[in-house]
Amino acid sequence: MKRISMIALCPVLIFILFSQTFAQELKPIQLPKPQVDGGRPLMQVLKDRSSSREFNSEKLPLQVLSNLLWAASGVNRPESGRRTAPTAANWQEIDIYLAMAEGLYLYNAKSHMLNPVLSEDIRALTGRQPFVKDAALNLIYVADFSRVGRGTNEEKDFFSAADTGFIAQNVYLFCASEGLATVVRANIDRPTLAKTMKLGPDQRITLSQTVGYPKK
Ligand SMILES: Cc1cc2nc3c(=O)[nH]c(=O)nc-3n(C[C@H](O)[C@H](O)[C@H](O)COP(=O)(O)O)c2cc1C
Repeated sequence: MKRISMIALCPVLIFILFSQTFAQELKPIQLPKPQVDGGRPLMQVLKDRSSSREFNSEKLPLQVLSNLLWAASGVNRPESGRRTAPTAANWQEIDIYLAMAEGLYLYNAKSHMLNPVLSEDIRALTGRQPFVKDAALNLIYVADFSRVGRGTNEEKDFFSAADTGFIAQNVYLFCASEGLATVVRANIDRPTLAKTMKLGPDQRITLSQTVGYPKK
């Protein structure tokens, strides 16, 4: 009797193992073209810009992710590769990682793609506040000091912090325009997050920013 139930269970166990293995494999995502002719008037968006800490976990559609990342730091002048946010000496040293339920991705602005980094849900590690684990998306801004041409580490910290600020404000404005909730955050356990993200010695987490639909 026991043997029969084991035999009957076998396909079920194989299915569970198989589906878990494949569920964990992330693939690169080509984002749709950003919709650059939308958005509300700038002065109204500035009037509405604010931090919010109440999110629901509804996923952001791919088109919204595309528009958000382009607004954040996408290429707006393809002939020169320059971006929607300024960077000191055009070093473009800030990378945007995306922590979502399905895993961690890195935004490639040039190809407007999301490249897989980790097939783990690390949202809870992106900040010390409870809402980070439930929101659809936590952006993690990471400076790559190897792209900063000159200066002491203190100067590199300054440039990276300033350059992150411009990106974060672009995200704030996009969210205000689209009715999304967002808050930029410095309260992060950086060593633990950097280790989980497997960052290299030249990489520094500057800030994180939660984005999602507001809790109703
Ligand atoms: C550099 C920086 C770090 C911040 N860190 C956090 C944070 O860790 N957690 C948080 O809830 N808000 C954080 N904020 C959001 C501020 O608390 C918020 O901007 C401020 O209270 C003003 O509110 P407002 O954005 O709605 O105008 C941070 C803002 C900045 C600019």
